[in-house]
Amino acid sequence: MSLTKEIARRKTFGIISHPDAGKTTLTEKLLLFGGAIQEAGAVKSNKIKKGATSDFMEIERQRGISVATSVLAFEYKDIKINILDTPGHKDFAEDTFRTLTAVDSVIVVIDVAKGVEEQTEKLVEVCRMRKIPVIVFINKLDREGKDAFDLLDEIEQKLQLRVTPLSFPIGMGYDFKGIYNIWEKNVNLFSGDSRKNIEDTIEIEDVFSSELDSVVGAKAAEKLREELELVYEVYPDFNRDEYLEGNLQPVFFGSALNNFGVRELLDCFIKIAPKPRPKQSDTRVVVPDEKEFSGFVFKIHANMDPKHRDRLAFVKIVSGTFERNTPYLHVRNGKKMKFSSPNAFFAEKKEIVDISYPGDIVGLHDTGNFKIGDTLTEGEEMQYKGIPSFSPEHFKYINNADPMKSKQLEKGIDQLMDEGVAQLFTLQLNNRKVIGTVGALQFEVIQYRLEHEYGAKCSYESLNVHKACWVEPKDSKSEEFKDFQRVKAKFLAKDKKGQLVFFADSAFTLQMTQQKYPNIRFHFVSEFEKVG
Ligand code: G4P
Repeated sequence: MSLTKEIARRKTFGIISHPDAGKTTLTEKLLLFGGAIQEAGAVKSNKIKKGATSDFMEIERQRGISVATSVLAFEYKDIKINILDTPGHKDFAEDTFRTLTAVDSVIVVIDVAKGVEEQTEKLVEVCRMRKIPVIVFINKLDREGKDAFDLLDEIEQKLQLRVTPLSFPIGMGYDFKGIYNIWEKNVNLFSGDSRKNIEDTIEIEDVFSSELDSVVGAKAAEKLREELELVYEVYPDFNRDEYLEGNLQPVFFGSALNNFGVRELLDCFIKIAPKPRPKQSDTRVVVPDEKEFSGFVFKIHANMDPKHRDRLAFVKIVSGTFERNTPYLHVRNGKKMKFSSPNAFFAEKKEIVDISYPGDIVGLHDTGNFKIGDTLTEGEEMQYKGIPSFSPEHFKYINNADPMKSKQLEKGIDQLMDEGVAQLFTLQLNNRKVIGTVGALQFEVIQYRLEHEYGAKCSYESLNVHKACWVEPKDSKSEEFKDFQRVKAKFLAKDKKGQLVFFADSAFTLQMTQQKYPNIRFHFVSEFEKVG
């Protein structure tokens, strides 16, 4: 098959949700449709289950699962689908943000009873900023939940999306009869008493025909007609281009657990979701059907076995074909590298593959050469953009608790930072090392992994920092910047790339500093458009 055809049949996406909305269940049902797994229960949730075991064990368990479910690939109706897994726990939100740099579209799962939750808001904001096409799946319709129109309003307001329903529930909870599929123009009916699956799909082109009454009963038919009238009046018609541009978000209703509305979602998804999209590098926009290979590392997974310190670097292929045993340029290092056993992912298995195409993810064994964001090419000097570090929210000094193992500690910290577990800052005044994380759990992860994988011990000391922000002066030689450096010397640090960072101890200090130094910009992500 030609490169163009292979690209056209690929869809790489992520499912995002607040924990418990049904992401794992939906993923599993999609895999069942693709024939990639045979039974329910095969996909393990990578949720951090509190209380079940100790935090360390839980972290290890979670890591074990997440390597298996990092990429779940399967074929459905001749489309190659790659689902990229995103951790639900908020402390790992940064992993999810990074994974979002490798997807071409997203499905957002919302619990019908809980509506839009905090984690969903944050993640959708990133999708909106990056113009990632989004489909919304409202789940758990078998339970009592919010009114469909209220929920659509809530999604519009809280997520700032412009929605259009492509299906609509007939009843809800106890009265849930089924779904009218606006996209396919048919009615899917729940099976009578068990309500465990779809009993019937009946084509009903015209909802005003009396057939609808005989199928769902006169009362439900009348209500549905009124509701659909409102849908057609209030919501824009579906338009694929608008969806692809991130300006319109189709909504589906269903129940993942009962396999209800999932096939409809998948059938629509494969028709409308984008094929691999072009990507911006620091020099130009790269389109997938360029002949030359290029890709970038969006995730690094450490080996579960502490004796083997190799890791798996996940590379999203942006253009051309990635071939086994072919030398590619590691742009940051300026070195050519060959990979003899690149892994491709099929459902929960990984296998060595000879060739992979844009949209695919390959897992490369790495002994410490890769960092998140690294670019591979056939020789072109360019670096993909868009994997920024976010301003951490928790800070601690990190100390060496075993002076005999300082080398191990240094190496361990270095590698964990490359994996993106946390960020390391070095205070300018005294060279003390500070770890900044998005969630509090990461401190435990770091301490545990340093000990178990690197044989090093660390201790923490608290540090009062409200926010760290990257500093960019309009003019680095100005008196204003010199004054800032002098006055704030105690609060200045360098990140791993050597960029200057300011530690503000409170929101008030930050505001005062911004006012006092109007010609210095303070950024909350590490990657920003430089002024001038
Ligand atoms: P997550 O990955 O988004 O965190 O959610 P997950 O799929 O694990 O689902 C969270 C809970 O919601 C699970 O129940 C799951 O069975 C349930 N669930 C998912 N979809 C539906 C649905 O359509 N209807 C109903 N009623 N429930 C649904 P649990 O009790 O927490 O876990 P389990 O013991 O069932 O695995």
